[in-house]
Amino acid sequence: MIKAAVLGYGTVGSGVYEVIRTNRERIAKNAGEEIQIKYVLDLREFPGDPVEEVLVHDFNRILEDPEVQIIAEVMGGTGAAYTFTKQALLAGKSVCTSNKALVAEHGRELMEIAREKNINYLFEASCGGGIPIIRALNASLTGDEIDEITGILNGTTNYMLYKMDVEGTDFDEVLKEAQAKGYAEADPTADVEGHDACRKIAILSTLAYQKYIDYKDIYTEGITRITPEDMDYARAINRKIKLLATSKNLPEGCYAMVAPFLVNDENPLYGVNDVFNAVFVHGNMLGDAMFYGSGAGKLPTASAVVGDMVDAARNLKAGTIRNGWSSEPANQMSMDHVTGEFLVRIKAEAKELAESVFETKTILQLPNHPEEMALLTGEMSQGEYREKAAQLTDQILGMIRIKD
Ligand code: HSE
Repeated sequence: MIKAAVLGYGTVGSGVYEVIRTNRERIAKNAGEEIQIKYVLDLREFPGDPVEEVLVHDFNRILEDPEVQIIAEVMGGTGAAYTFTKQALLAGKSVCTSNKALVAEHGRELMEIAREKNINYLFEASCGGGIPIIRALNASLTGDEIDEITGILNGTTNYMLYKMDVEGTDFDEVLKEAQAKGYAEADPTADVEGHDACRKIAILSTLAYQKYIDYKDIYTEGITRITPEDMDYARAINRKIKLLATSKNLPEGCYAMVAPFLVNDENPLYGVNDVFNAVFVHGNMLGDAMFYGSGAGKLPTASAVVGDMVDAARNLKAGTIRNGWSSEPANQMSMDHVTGEFLVRIKAEAKELAESVFETKTILQLPNHPEEMALLTGEMSQGEYREKAAQLTDQILGMIRIKD
């Protein structure tokens, strides 16, 4: 029997406890031995909950118990979670986590410790919740050069954009609804400003391109500026607005960014609605593949954490499972050189000036928005866009990138 501990009895932690209790026999078959939760660490009490039998408040009980070989860190954050993870790895215990903030911030150091100790630091649940994308990148797509990853990696914002589209509601209204349903946190900043998706694309890109991409270098724009007018223009050109976390590995370097994009109906991400996540991957041999499913929530996320615990258990003797994680910095190109097309909303009175500044493919004038119009530009670099937009600062009402 393999003894394990769970750090944090919140949504995901209680899910891990539930998955292991519910699927005990199946997990034992898959792991080769039963995995038993010997401790759950949390500062709180849970009177009447079966977790009481194994609840502890002091991490040292777990750290100093040589029987504990696998730890699930599902506390979140980069404070105590970092200290405990580092101590656990240094003590030779494998750690499995859903904590994308910690992996993005300290993954380099924690992965190096795990490799030195010949154990595992696994984080399938950190990106895309229950979608097995990290295992696919590490174990299945190993015959390919991956050159693009584009994902809808945040369920909260995907739900909000979907509702804004189908119900015509504005950002503030839909945020309140998402909070009432428990999809958005009381402080929604990490989701709506794109920070959560930014950390996830940093992790996936580091694994896929086998060069370290620091989340702090990723251009990140959230959905707070998206309006019902933007939704109207999107519909007029048969596109949907999606918050995409995207990265490309090009001969001249790689880049990653998070921003709202206009996605057309031929793109498989177009149909990813509600709280679902999806990750599109392009490989030089594979071509296109897309991974779709529940990107958040108690049991989907816990399922991914437990999958990692099973892998850690299978490899207790074999040691570190090979993965693409690298600490060598990626050659990141300047965002100014990244090219694309743009939908630019301008005040109606600026039409002539805007047409003289931008090479315009199409002009959209919607009867319900007579005071403004939108230009669809030709392809240009982000740098060129910035320079041109500077000539029209007071006339631009909004800009959304067009997904190629
Ligand atoms: N807040 C995240 C989301 C949770 O909405 O996708 C899963 O990482």
